[in-house]
Amino acid sequence: MRMLTAGGLALLAGCGGEPAPYSTLAPAGPAAGSIAWLWWAMFGAGSLVLIAVCVIWLRALCRAPAAEAVERRRQRQWMVGGGLLLPSLSIVLLLAFGIPIGHRLQPGASPDGDALRIDITARQWQWRVRYPDTGIELLDALHIPVGRSVDLYLRTEDVIHAFWVPRLAGKLDMIPGRTNVLRLRADAPGHYQGLCAEYCGVGHAHMPILVEAHAPADFADWLEAQRNAR
Ligand code: CUA
Repeated sequence: MRMLTAGGLALLAGCGGEPAPYSTLAPAGPAAGSIAWLWWAMFGAGSLVLIAVCVIWLRALCRAPAAEAVERRRQRQWMVGGGLLLPSLSIVLLLAFGIPIGHRLQPGASPDGDALRIDITARQWQWRVRYPDTGIELLDALHIPVGRSVDLYLRTEDVIHAFWVPRLAGKLDMIPGRTNVLRLRADAPGHYQGLCAEYCGVGHAHMPILVEAHAPADFADWLEAQRNAR
């Protein structure tokens, strides 16, 4: 049983070893970490409710019926407890945990003067990445420094797209006429796969973006090399 549980958890977390490139359960930064934590909390609470309901159901199947008045009182107790109190408590708990996490994912929630701004514009079916004041422009690739907040200013030229790098942050829609800002941070150097998470036409499935996180000194070198190449 213990092996089965461990096997199931490993499967959910991406089979151990190298994390799956699009796994939200292998977070590599604080934003994705909060989302993964909330996912595990909801999974745990949902599992407990499922087990409790199964136990109550089996007990109900096995016990002999009581007198009619007693049965009616029990029914009322279950309706109030299981139909009103339990859902109310669950929703309050979910909101108490979920709202602060959602709030922390907004760049405005914790202003960071050191955050690096990068502009990303989506179009069918490409990501144009621009580093303000540098003239650097990339296609379908994003380079960021490790350990520093990055604010991505997300826009679209045509239809709605959604920027999503599962191991670094949640997804955010890019809506025509609007600029949405997504903050992310990578805690370790490496490659992180991203994709478009909103159906945007026939090329939607072929709209990946590759994020490369560099150690701070390497990022400075990369930036310098890109500037010199222009
Ligand atoms: Cu862009 Cu889907």
